[in-house]
Amino acid sequence: MEKHVFLLILVFLVKFSISIAASNETDQKALLDFQNLISPSRFLAINWMKNTSYCSWFGVTCSPKRQRVVALALPNLQLQGTISPCLANLSFLRVLNLGNNSFHGGIPYGLGHLPRLRVIDMQNNKLNGSIPTSLFQHRRVQVISLAFNKLHGEMWKGPWYVPELRVLDLTNNSLTGVIPPSVGNATNMINFSLFGNRVNGNIPKEIGNLSQLADLSLSDNQLTCSIPAILFNISPLLAIHLRNNSLSGPLLLDEGNIVSNLEVLRISHNQISGCIPSNICLVLTKLKILSLSFNNITGEIPRNIGCLANLEVLYIERNAISGTIPASLGNISTLQNLDCSHSRIVGQVPQESGKLSNLRLLNFEHNYNLIGQIQEAIFNISSLETIAFNSNNLSRRIPSTTGLHLPNLKGLYLGDNHFEGEISLFIINASKLEILGLAQNFLTGAIPTNLGNLCEPMLRYLQVGYNPLNGVLPNSIGNLSSTIQNIE
Ligand SMILES: *[C@@H]1O[C@H](CO)[C@@H](O)[C@H](O)[C@H]1NC(C)=O
Ligand SMILES: *[C@@H]1O[C@H](CO)[C@@H](O)[C@H](O)[C@H]1NC(C)=O
Ligand SMILES: *[C@@H]1O[C@H](CO)[C@@H](O)[C@H](O)[C@H]1NC(C)=O
Ligand SMILES: *[C@@H]1O[C@H](CO)[C@@H](O)[C@H](O)[C@H]1NC(C)=O
Ligand SMILES: *[C@@H]1O[C@H](CO)[C@@H](O)[C@H](O)[C@H]1NC(C)=O
Ligand SMILES: *[C@@H]1O[C@H](CO)[C@@H](O)[C@H](O)[C@H]1NC(C)=O
Ligand SMILES: *[C@@H]1O[C@H](CO)[C@@H](O)[C@H](O)[C@H]1NC(C)=O
Ligand SMILES: *[C@@H]1O[C@H](CO)[C@@H](O)[C@H](O)[C@H]1NC(C)=O
Ligand SMILES: *[C@@H]1O[C@H](CO)[C@@H](O)[C@H](O)[C@H]1NC(C)=O
Ligand SMILES: *[C@@H]1O[C@H](CO)[C@@H](O)[C@H](O)[C@H]1NC(C)=O
Ligand SMILES: *[C@@H]1O[C@H](CO)[C@@H](O)[C@H](O)[C@H]1NC(C)=O
Ligand SMILES: *[C@@H]1O[C@H](CO)[C@@H](O)[C@H](O)[C@H]1NC(C)=O
Repeated sequence: MEKHVFLLILVFLVKFSISIAASNETDQKALLDFQNLISPSRFLAINWMKNTSYCSWFGVTCSPKRQRVVALALPNLQLQGTISPCLANLSFLRVLNLGNNSFHGGIPYGLGHLPRLRVIDMQNNKLNGSIPTSLFQHRRVQVISLAFNKLHGEMWKGPWYVPELRVLDLTNNSLTGVIPPSVGNATNMINFSLFGNRVNGNIPKEIGNLSQLADLSLSDNQLTCSIPAILFNISPLLAIHLRNNSLSGPLLLDEGNIVSNLEVLRISHNQISGCIPSNICLVLTKLKILSLSFNNITGEIPRNIGCLANLEVLYIERNAISGTIPASLGNISTLQNLDCSHSRIVGQVPQESGKLSNLRLLNFEHNYNLIGQIQEAIFNISSLETIAFNSNNLSRRIPSTTGLHLPNLKGLYLGDNHFEGEISLFIINASKLEILGLAQNFLTGAIPTNLGNLCEPMLRYLQVGYNPLNGVLPNSIGNLSSTIQNIE
């Protein structure tokens, strides 16, 4: 009996050591085969010495006991060539990072069968062909990053089984086809990007099953139909990028029981219709960036928009938004960029706008029907870089900025309105002003002599044509003539 047990152990040991020897030979063979398909690289030549153990080669990590390759990390080395299918013989491989090189050709199918693979990062190469379907059926894979390649074909439409997948980054390839509903099976996904591909069809409602999703980037594709309201019920979701698709229908916000943490919503350049939802404040209280521009949105800006107390960017230009500017906008003290141009907004610029003390961009150009005067307080927001109210129906005097401070103002566009009075001293403190557009108003008097006295003359464009001005260009303009490229 004892003898038998002893024999058994012996057989086991012999078998085991044979398998170790065979295996680490396999790993070395696989690595050398991989190297063979890389154009001669000085770096590899001096760092992968055949007289040293492959476990000490640059970028290779082995398991301490069994001496099997568990990680191959060779990013940022300008390696060129194709990726050898023999890498799929590194059966203990967990991490494969070949990012930021110049590999071309296809991704070996067998890589998706490496049972221990956790991370496959081949971003920023020149890989073509399609994504091995085996990667969509991998029990352990956590990160698939194939961004910035030339992959084409479709994502696998069959059942996905990737319970551990956290990041699927396919940014900037040439993928076609649809987003398969099976994506809903990747329930641990945190970041999903198809940014910059040619994917069409609708956004499947199953995406609502991705309850850990934090970042969804589907911009620059050809997606159609409406935005599934269920997206706004994914509590961890921080950013939704759907810019530049062919999405239509209204933006509907589901008033679920879940608190949305969404900070970024970019849906510009689509064909979204309907109104800006009036419940936006109930649902998306944490928004920092809201971009709805270049759509077919109608209706008014919700009166209570001011409740978006963290908003930094509001882009709603190039829609058919009507009504007046809500006074509550002035309560969003975090607002930096406000673009409501090329729409159908009417009425006065509310006094409260002057409270936006962090504003850099204020653009209401081409609404045609803004009336009344520009609040002087706006001209005292020192962070402002661009003020654009051209092509409206504004009138009365342009506020004098004597005593006010616009140290960052680069562009002031007030042309094509009904401003009257003498061109005042309003640019006296705008030492960074590059573009001053005042054409097509009823401005009178002479061009102020102090224009040429700005401490650092930056002015490049001065547009004062089509005003009943009198007098001549002041001599001091001569000091500017080296920088001014265009006077109209
Ligand atoms: C390969 O296996 C042998 C023993 O079977 C061992 O001595 C060696 O360290 C292993 N690893 C490498 C990288 O050669
Ligand atoms: C990889 O494994 C296959 C099948 O086991 C074998 O035919 C092939 O020679 C191996 N390649 C290398 C480089 O080890
Ligand atoms: C391996 O070979 C290179 C030259 O081919 C030599 O410079 C190096 O010292 C050798 N290393 C070992 C560990 O033998
Ligand atoms: C590739 O380079 C970019 C930018 O330099 C960097 O963010 C990224 O982490 C790199 N990727 C890899 C796999 O090293
Ligand atoms: C990858 O592109 C090359 C030409 O650059 C082509 O010969 C090859 O067939 C393509 N591979 C796949 C899998 O599409
Ligand atoms: C989801 O995964 C399960 C296995 O866990 C599989 O049976 C099912 O077909 C998959 N469904 C889809 C739509 O991928
Ligand atoms: C999504 O979750 C629902 C239940 O919430 C389930 O019925 C459905 O099968 C799931 N779909 C996918 C694709 O996982
Ligand atoms: C997910 O994407 C965000 C950017 O939106 C990034 O900050 C974060 O690090 C990413 N997370 C993972 C796990 O890649
Ligand atoms: C992909 O990235 C390259 C280089 O960064 C860029 O030139 C190209 O325009 C991008 N393509 C798309 C579709 O975003
Ligand atoms: C939209 O994406 C396409 C490529 O998918 C690109 O050619 C086009 O310039 C993009 N348009 C905008 C407005 O970004
Ligand atoms: C959206 O507006 C554009 C131009 O204003 C128009 O051509 C297009 O038909 C509109 N689309 C929808 C779906 O209303
Ligand atoms: C602005 O906020 C103040 C203080 O929270 C509030 O009393 C006021 O009604 C708000 N103004 C508008 C126009 O919403």
